[in-house]
Amino acid sequence: MAEANFISNEELALQNDIAQSIARENEGRSLTFFVETFGCQMNVRDSETIQGELSEMGYTAASEKESADLILYNTCCVREHAEKRLMGNIGALKELYDRKPGMIIGVCGCMMQQDGVGEKLLKRFPHVSLVFGTNVIYRLPEMIRRVMNGERVLVKDRAGDSIAEGLPQLRDNPRSAFVNITFGCDNYCSYCIVPYVRGRERSRDPKDIRDEVASLVRSGITEITLLGQNVNSYGNNGTAGMTFAELLAYVSDVPGLKRLRFMSSHPKDLNEDVMQAIASLPNVCHHVHLPVQSGNDEILRRMNRRYTRERYLSIVRRLRELVPDIEFTTDIIVGFPGETEEAFADTMSLVDEVGFASAFTFAYSPRRGTVAAGMADQIPEAIKKDRLKRLNELQAKKTVENNAKYIGHEGEVLVEGFDCCGEQTMLYGKYQNFKMVYFPGDAGLLNRYVPVRVTKLSKNSLLGEMIHA
Ligand code: SAH
Ligand code: SF4
Ligand code: F3S
Repeated sequence: MAEANFISNEELALQNDIAQSIARENEGRSLTFFVETFGCQMNVRDSETIQGELSEMGYTAASEKESADLILYNTCCVREHAEKRLMGNIGALKELYDRKPGMIIGVCGCMMQQDGVGEKLLKRFPHVSLVFGTNVIYRLPEMIRRVMNGERVLVKDRAGDSIAEGLPQLRDNPRSAFVNITFGCDNYCSYCIVPYVRGRERSRDPKDIRDEVASLVRSGITEITLLGQNVNSYGNNGTAGMTFAELLAYVSDVPGLKRLRFMSSHPKDLNEDVMQAIASLPNVCHHVHLPVQSGNDEILRRMNRRYTRERYLSIVRRLRELVPDIEFTTDIIVGFPGETEEAFADTMSLVDEVGFASAFTFAYSPRRGTVAAGMADQIPEAIKKDRLKRLNELQAKKTVENNAKYIGHEGEVLVEGFDCCGEQTMLYGKYQNFKMVYFPGDAGLLNRYVPVRVTKLSKNSLLGEMIHA
């Protein structure tokens, strides 16, 4: 893990001054923005910062893309095909741009960190005037100023070792928030592009994290998810002065915080201290997103994951012993180079053995510049597709099996939304261990905690009823 390079207060103040001057110029023009976010929670969180910065510059959120004065795509490149789709999306904006000269079309996020992609975009699409990477979001005011002056702007910082604190944020969700604890990744799993586009792993200062959580809780948010590519390596080389287990304890006692979640956990770094913290801290949720990727030791070795199947299973066993109602979710890749039918069978048997609540499953997608993309024994697409189908079928069966034990289960649910089907409004939300349940109720309960008992199962979901005192 790298020593973080904190952006100076002078630099942040300078950007803020530019934002204020843009806001003054924009006064009375009622300009709007539309940010479309692809990829993982990191990008979701970045988009909240970008939206916060745009608000400071006098923009408000547009109700739809077509009416916006500024459209920004926040991109992901973890798997292939995203680039083609993005080019299609941007090409389609040409017509809108022609009708509305002066509008700003921009592209940011992980894909823009890849060599040559931003340059290609600017060359191919004259209606794009802003391209920036993941490590320079704090400089958005300066970039917008330059675009307003007629420049076409491309800014990225390849080193990616910086942290900018105290940036504005505009969040849509009034009950739940993501809070970064680390940025970047140093794990270099052999299939993965993230370390190349997100830069070196660096940890935020514990106090900055706690202050952000406290401020969110003061604003009414009760559920916090701590974010990192590998939260368990938080502060690993002492740069942050705390381990992840210590950070959990430090953050969990923020008054009013009902639920503390975290993701993702890397099996190589999830230790006994973290398990004890999950077991003992009352508001730390009993859910671990623990990507396994494969159930075969040789494939895990070639993926550079640095744990074995047995080590993974031992974490699951130990956590279940300490925290009986814990649920696991995971990520799995099928068709990694060299994956034989026997190796795939090991993944299937691991899925069968663990009984994940749910799994995100992917066909291996070669990423330029990664070690695995250069491996000789690439697997044909048809075989990947077939394995993915078999894996999904097995997981669907395991989800239903897992649900059966919830009949009669009682607990608090945080209401996230509702579907109106016929006369009955169906609310949905999650128990603290991440299990989702549907139940009839009043839409006014949105964002509230209500006690719910599971009464029956429907396909792959839990159905319940509110418990009245
Ligand atoms: N940091 C997280 C994962 C971030 S990427 C972790 O290590 O757990 C999210 C998921 O995308 C990964 O867990 C992996 O399952 C999948 N993924 C990453 N690169 C991929 C690739 N080249 N092909 C297919 N799936 C990939
Ligand atoms: Fe990618 Fe591995 Fe880092 Fe996760 S831990 S982001 S899979 S390199
Ligand atoms: Fe996330 Fe995609 Fe970037 S998964 S870190 S948005 S490449």
